[in-house]
Amino acid sequence: MSLKISEEEFKKILESGKRVDGRAFTELRPINIRLGIVERAEGSCLFEMGHTKVLCVVRGPTECVPAYIADPERAVLDVAYRMCTFSTEERKSPTPSRREVELSKVIREALEPSILLEEFPRMMIKVYCLVLQADAGTRTASINAASLALAQAGIPLRDLVTSVAVGYCYGNIVVDVCSIEDELCADIPIAMLPAYRKITLLQSDHRLPIDRLSEILSTAIKAIDQIYELQKKALKEYYLSSTKTGD
Ligand code: CDP
Repeated sequence: MSLKISEEEFKKILESGKRVDGRAFTELRPINIRLGIVERAEGSCLFEMGHTKVLCVVRGPTECVPAYIADPERAVLDVAYRMCTFSTEERKSPTPSRREVELSKVIREALEPSILLEEFPRMMIKVYCLVLQADAGTRTASINAASLALAQAGIPLRDLVTSVAVGYCYGNIVVDVCSIEDELCADIPIAMLPAYRKITLLQSDHRLPIDRLSEILSTAIKAIDQIYELQKKALKEYYLSSTKTGD
């Protein structure tokens, strides 16, 4: 999966107008969405973006445990992001890492503005994001999957949340980075409530040229609009098929 490549070779491929995996700069990886695959849970979604595969499961709204974290005004959203030991090239330790704790918080903050938490005071909504296979973009795939699993669970939402990571690679803007690009470029994960044009996540640990920022954002938003259409299509297909089978 992770093709080893030198920085020089990587730059040459970009100069030829292509990417390491043969995609065009603004091309997403193939996306595959399956809803309702965990029957015991209120909502579930398997979201695949290229080689990245994430399963999200939603439980609730349920009683808040532990009770002392209950909020009398709104439901508590509890998000747990975990990588399976077999999800990475080198075995991932089963002990939750600082990165997993941080990403759980990042995903929760990206999702919260979409949910009408105020309709469920003192309750809890749990979201489990399990990375089955990682090839970059696991937080963005988790956000896309979690939002769909929340919708399938019947939790009232203002809108879906849609997310993608764009990369800034030696002057080029690329969409939906794979792991080689994640290593060699500046990656910028973004999440949005597409119908409201409201950004709920924008991260970058790298220095970016300020004069390219609006282009980076507009490229990300175009990709988000494409993913949003696929999310809505998956939800529609799920409800049409469950109406037919009486689920
Ligand atoms: O996955 P995402 O891009 O949201 O987060 P990241 O921290 O930027 O990680 C980028 C990629 O590095 C992951 O998707 C994995 O492919 C890889 N990674 C890994 O192989 N082992 C880890 N313990 C963490 C990340």
